[in-house]
Amino acid sequence: MSRSAHPAGPRHADVLPEGHWTAPATDLNALDEKVWSRTVTRDADGAVSVGGIEVARLAEEFGTPAYILDESDFRARCRAWAEAFGADADVFYAGKAFLSRAVVRWLKEEGLNLDVCSGGELATALDAGMPAERIAFHGNNKTIAEIERAVTAGVGRIVLDSFQEIVRVAHVAQGLGTRQRVQIRVTVGVEAHTHEFIATAHEDQKFGIALADGQAAEAVRRALTLDGLELVGIHSHIGSQIFDMAGFEVSARRVVGLLAEIRDEHGVELPEIDLGGGLGIAYTSEDDPREPHEIAKALGDIVTRECESAGLATPRISVEPGRAIVGPTAFTLYEVGTIKPLEGLRTYVSVDGGMSDNIRTALYDAEYSVSLVSRSSDAGPMLVRVVGKHCESGDIVVKDAFLPSDLAPGDLIAVPATGAYCRSMASNYNHALRPPVVAVRDGRARVIVRRETEEDLLRLDVG
Ligand code: LLP
Repeated sequence: MSRSAHPAGPRHADVLPEGHWTAPATDLNALDEKVWSRTVTRDADGAVSVGGIEVARLAEEFGTPAYILDESDFRARCRAWAEAFGADADVFYAGKAFLSRAVVRWLKEEGLNLDVCSGGELATALDAGMPAERIAFHGNNKTIAEIERAVTAGVGRIVLDSFQEIVRVAHVAQGLGTRQRVQIRVTVGVEAHTHEFIATAHEDQKFGIALADGQAAEAVRRALTLDGLELVGIHSHIGSQIFDMAGFEVSARRVVGLLAEIRDEHGVELPEIDLGGGLGIAYTSEDDPREPHEIAKALGDIVTRECESAGLATPRISVEPGRAIVGPTAFTLYEVGTIKPLEGLRTYVSVDGGMSDNIRTALYDAEYSVSLVSRSSDAGPMLVRVVGKHCESGDIVVKDAFLPSDLAPGDLIAVPATGAYCRSMASNYNHALRPPVVAVRDGRARVIVRRETEEDLLRLDVG
């Protein structure tokens, strides 16, 4: 899903004689700050540190594989988003990217709100003390129990995703003697991935209510008549790993168009719009993500302009970045095991994790970079494929990359930009034990999600 080009040579070239590959121009010891979290440095002796701690020490203390999360970078990114959008807008961190109780506390302290999309995420948020009014509850198939829990807790908004859900939430809220603040999620006819956006075939999906054929307007009609609901806005999320603002522009224009229709038909000006998440990050040096202030300005300008031309007061804007906040703040630390050179092809470097801790390469053909982090090396580049230890040939972590040719078993390598959708989509395939998340900050490291144990596995297996 990244738009990164192949490190050298054509993309998707699975079998290429080694001579066809050009060695990378960049120094293999260099750590591109675009893909590494902010406190990552390579020290004079060649070892890599994060948050003031050498990764070799982290490996010794916490084992590998491990997700190493740079807490000060996470907090800095939260602040950058909050400041960029300012007091007249709201930033909801999308918890699906990665959620834990520590993360909830950091979000709370840094002034962000939280988007959750399941009972489990809601439970984590509430348990860690996120005020319910700062939580938005999403999902295309929320259960009645989840809706009851969210309404009872007093979540700030539930994002309605279907006609049936409009009735369900209204019914639950009324039964509990309350009115629930809600937004309606619409599909605006834009589906954006990476740098392109397609304006067809997008309504053919499970999320949201289509705008084009009048369904969204009908959903608004129904929501406005139900006592249990307080309709406060319209929501749109157009995709993932987006670099180009053009898709957001179309989305904002269409959402504001619906607000104008609602005003004309019902005499009501809805006070909020949410433009979702989906902002891209750098997985490799080829990616050029936008900064929060550029995104805030672009979105703010579009909405203001569209509202002015429709004669509407500018609504309160919210956004839901997940990947753009947590993605760049973590890397996965692995120990190198078996190294298998395949003559004329490439060298397979096996690590002690794999598709169970990062399914994104297998699932989306995602591209990642990788570096040797326990030492530096002057050896020449070697074309590698970093693979896991699972019984599956698609168990690839980094499809094509260069590592120093003196790489040896026991070396530590790290894959940057794995903060989003790696731990949150991790599995126990082959009874793998899901790795811990270790937060580092100012020379201190602490486990915020511990490593799974065989006991954990066996506890679920009740015989
Ligand atoms: N808001 C809504 C309603 C969403 O559905 C999502 C992501 C987000 C916000 C956050 O999007 P972000 O800023 O993190 O891109 N597993 C995939 C990503 C799935 C995203 C689903 N929805 C991946 O690993 O790339």
